[in-house]
Amino acid sequence: MKYASVTDRLADLGGAKWAIHARARALKASGAEIIELTIGEPDVPTPERYLTAAAKAMAAGRTGYSNGRGEPAVVAALAARYTERRGRAIGTDQIMCLPGTQTTLYAILRTLVEAGDEVLLGDPMYATYEGLISQTGAAMVPVPLRPEHGFRMQAADVASRITPRSRVLFLNTPHNPTGAVLRAEDIRALGDLAKAHDLWIVSDEVYEDMVFPGVTFTSPLDFADLADRVVVASSISKSHASPGFRSGWCVGPAEFCDRLLPLSETMLFGSQPFIADMTALAVSEPSPVAGGMAERFSRRAGLIAQALDGVAGLRVHRPEAGMFALVDVRATGLSGEDFAAGLLDRQQVAVMPGESFGAGVQGWLRLSLTQPDDRIIEASGRIAAHAATLLGNAA
Ligand SMILES: Cc1ncc(COP(=O)(O)O)c(C=O)c1O
Repeated sequence: MKYASVTDRLADLGGAKWAIHARARALKASGAEIIELTIGEPDVPTPERYLTAAAKAMAAGRTGYSNGRGEPAVVAALAARYTERRGRAIGTDQIMCLPGTQTTLYAILRTLVEAGDEVLLGDPMYATYEGLISQTGAAMVPVPLRPEHGFRMQAADVASRITPRSRVLFLNTPHNPTGAVLRAEDIRALGDLAKAHDLWIVSDEVYEDMVFPGVTFTSPLDFADLADRVVVASSISKSHASPGFRSGWCVGPAEFCDRLLPLSETMLFGSQPFIADMTALAVSEPSPVAGGMAERFSRRAGLIAQALDGVAGLRVHRPEAGMFALVDVRATGLSGEDFAAGLLDRQQVAVMPGESFGAGVQGWLRLSLTQPDDRIIEASGRIAAHAATLLGNAA
């Protein structure tokens, strides 16, 4: 039978990137003791008050059809939150609710680009971005994010890759996998380029509330002169430890939202009112869990650096936000994939190879910071031991 070409384009972009994680889960299921530092799930359960809010709303009959924009209460709560945080008026006509950041980004890109267009995207990148762009038929144009600039996207690196086909500059701040947070001056320079070349700026800000102590978050939404070209996507998945609720949204120009609405209606015909009620509560108050996660993840990144910096063959990149730390293993002579495969087999530690996140971190590892401190310390020791074995320095 024949299938649409999108299935071919996406064939290698889904599960293949998570092969080590899948193998670690299979080993665990067969009884092996594995320290799993692969995926980024919050390290706390969903707060009780949100479970109660959703359950109460469900019991109260909030289970009917909704509408394509989102329930009025959550749309109003998000407009108020963004107005307060971004320091300028954001109206309810600038918000659309969708099931999670992932679906939101899918719908945003579907609304903005198609075959023949180009999307400028930082490399390294979150593992699903390539597929998000590919599903539209547009081409991904990787922009190198360089360790010497703290992996923050530099306007000069974007400028040299702009063509008449460029339509979207895709940002992710705070960034997965590097933990980089764009500074106001980075965004100013990128915004000026976007204005000069009439580009949309799409910004994935799902880690906004997980910025480490001492770091300041800035959004392209903060810049009033970019208001007609910026679309931000986010959700309660990370900030409120609620990924399974699949509750996200985007904020953009009212005209953009009007254009997106029929697509949302076609895809979803609205989302779940009881989840909207729980989300309205969550986004109306400071998260009870985000600050604690940021503090713990920052500390654990420090523990990894303490254990691995200075170990022959290894170098740690300290994140500024989010759930991950990067370790450069190129000096061991192995790819990230080979290092990670051997680490799982010999040391029972599962990490993501950098190769799953683009060419920019080939020969790196991504370590999730969501395990308890003692497991992080134990895993770091085993990573050091594995590097020592590879370099013939084993004690
Ligand atoms: C950068 C980034 N964007 C989006 C997502 C998915 O978020 P959501 O659960 O809101 O779809 C993740 C999840 O790990 C992520 O790291």
